[in-house]
Amino acid sequence: MPPKNSSSSLPSKFRFMFLLFSFLLGTASAQLSSSYYATTCPSALSIIKSAVNAAVAVEKRMGASLLRLHFHDCFVQGCDASILLDDTATFTGEKTANPNINSVRGYDVVDTIKSQLESSCPGVVSCADILAVAARDSVVALGGSSWKVPLGRRDSTTASLSAANTDLPAPTSSLSQLIQAFSNKGLTAKEMVALSGSHTIGQARCTTFRSRIYNDTNINSSYATSLQANCPSTGGDNNLSPLDVTSPTSFDNAYFKNLLSKKGLLHSDQELYNGGFTDSQVTAYSSNLQTFKTDFGNAMIKMGNISPLTGSSGQIRTNCRKVN
Ligand code: HEM
Ligand SMILES: *[C@@H]1O[C@H](CO)[C@@H](O)[C@H](O)[C@H]1NC(C)=O
Ligand SMILES: *[C@@H]1O[C@H](CO)[C@@H](O)[C@H](O)[C@H]1NC(C)=O
Repeated sequence: MPPKNSSSSLPSKFRFMFLLFSFLLGTASAQLSSSYYATTCPSALSIIKSAVNAAVAVEKRMGASLLRLHFHDCFVQGCDASILLDDTATFTGEKTANPNINSVRGYDVVDTIKSQLESSCPGVVSCADILAVAARDSVVALGGSSWKVPLGRRDSTTASLSAANTDLPAPTSSLSQLIQAFSNKGLTAKEMVALSGSHTIGQARCTTFRSRIYNDTNINSSYATSLQANCPSTGGDNNLSPLDVTSPTSFDNAYFKNLLSKKGLLHSDQELYNGGFTDSQVTAYSSNLQTFKTDFGNAMIKMGNISPLTGSSGQIRTNCRKVN
């Protein structure tokens, strides 16, 4: 060991400068951390997991609904729980936007989780973080793989009906429109394909797939015929069919296998496997469950990182439905 001298103290000065710099950077930009509530609310993650498991035990579809809530939150103003704000006489939120109305569900499960968290750790855990953790716990409850959820998002004091109408992809979208919608949020085409694997669970209303089952040509004809029984050419708009015809309550890769046999329920689903450049990704996920699950978790982390409010931005709502 050489003796300490003045020149050997230089690296430690640099290290201090580096730490200071990264601290300043960290506070200026969004830095989420999976241990965010470790000291301020150590029971947060177990409270959320128990409540999600209880809700999924009552109704498996709720796992799908909670997963979708996080997606519809993050694509509109970022992951800031803006979707949870109720309309009032003076405030219009996102719940009546076309992709959400008569469709998004799970708000009362979030209310239950929030009130339990407020009892244990008042004013600490954000509604936006509840959505991110509940989405992960839902996937795990239905058989998917886990991931560590980065935390520390804060809640918005605003919502945007117009952004909810423009920024969420429609079931009539073409492949290029889907890629554009995700690229607008900083997500790649590959991540878009992985995240679309969410449609291996949950249900869709007839109104979202009617034109596909009567007019699309790239649909399995026996599949189309069987769907028409519960989705007439007029009426029955709210009749439900599973997004994954083979295993609608299992978080597996059957969604991708279905696409190979032209059994995507939504027009947008089948666009991922219709002779375009995402075909190879669909084929890969259809034959490798573990690759899909790993890529899905990583893509969820990236989606969960869309423009979070951190530091002193936003607030920790005490009631997810309204601004404090
Ligand atoms: C790729 C573009 C996407 C389009 C066009 C799309 C569209 C839709 C539509 C139309 C429904 C049925 C809604 C209804 O009829 O009420 C639905 C359901 C669902 N979506 Fe997507 N989605 C997309 C991506 C995603 C992503 C990225 C996720 C999650 C990360 C997701 C999760 C779900 C889930 C879980 C359901 C079932 C919800 C339930 O049963 O309550 N979707 N989606
Ligand atoms: C199918 O396409 C025809 C011709 O474009 C249209 O008139 C009809 O409304 C479509 N049907 C459905 C169920 O979308
Ligand atoms: C359509 O579905 C039937 C019944 O599930 C299946 O036997 C057939 O192979 C499918 N057709 C195509 C083109 O994938």
